[in-house]
Amino acid sequence: MEFIEVKEEHYPVILQIAHKTWPVAFKDILSTQQINYMLEMMYSIKSIKNQIYNLHHKYVLVKDKKHGFLGYISYEVDYKPLVTKIHKIYVLPEAQGRGIGKILIEKAEFFAGEKGNITLSLNVNRFNKAIQFYERMGFRICGSEDIDIGNGFLMEDYIMNKDFM
Ligand SMILES: CC(C)(COP(=O)(O)OP(=O)(O)OC[C@H]1O[C@@H](n2cnc3c(N)ncnc32)[C@H](O)[C@@H]1OP(=O)(O)O)[C@@H](O)C(=O)NCCC(=O)NCCS
Repeated sequence: MEFIEVKEEHYPVILQIAHKTWPVAFKDILSTQQINYMLEMMYSIKSIKNQIYNLHHKYVLVKDKKHGFLGYISYEVDYKPLVTKIHKIYVLPEAQGRGIGKILIEKAEFFAGEKGNITLSLNVNRFNKAIQFYERMGFRICGSEDIDIGNGFLMEDYIMNKDFM
């Protein structure tokens, strides 16, 4: 397994993985209209560039020799004092359940710790089964929030934190 810090040449790979993973992950949770709206908002080349250069998100891609690129994580160190926020974590449907998500969280934790942060934080849809994955990784629900993302759509999220130090 190889981990690659994302450069501009990789942006299309991120878009591809997102477009393959989202419709499966959110089919029972969000309408097709909301999935398409959110994909358009978060996963254009322009938006990824903005996240990386202006919002200081770091993206790491995971790749294996046989299957190519399988997933990614994005995180932001010092989102708040001592807190790293995981903004995105997606593994291709056919590669889920093989320990890749766990390694991606461990990577974010390592880089967060290296910069002196002590907590990982993330938002997850309140109906997403990824909640159980996060709990397995040591996160706990510590709040919930509804975020208006325009066009009449809401993100209905839990906030989950993990203090790893
Ligand atoms: C959520 C996601 C990133 C997890 O990655 P993954 O590679 O499938 O998970 P892993 O194989 O690393 O699982 C790690 C551990 O969590 C457990 N786990 C994973 N998904 C689980 C679930 N739905 N319910 C209960 N446990 C789960 C695994 O059994 C494993 O436990 P173990 O350490 O005892 O073996 C991945 O499934 C995914 O991309 N899902 C769709 C997109 C999504 O919802 N992303 C999150 C948006 S907030």
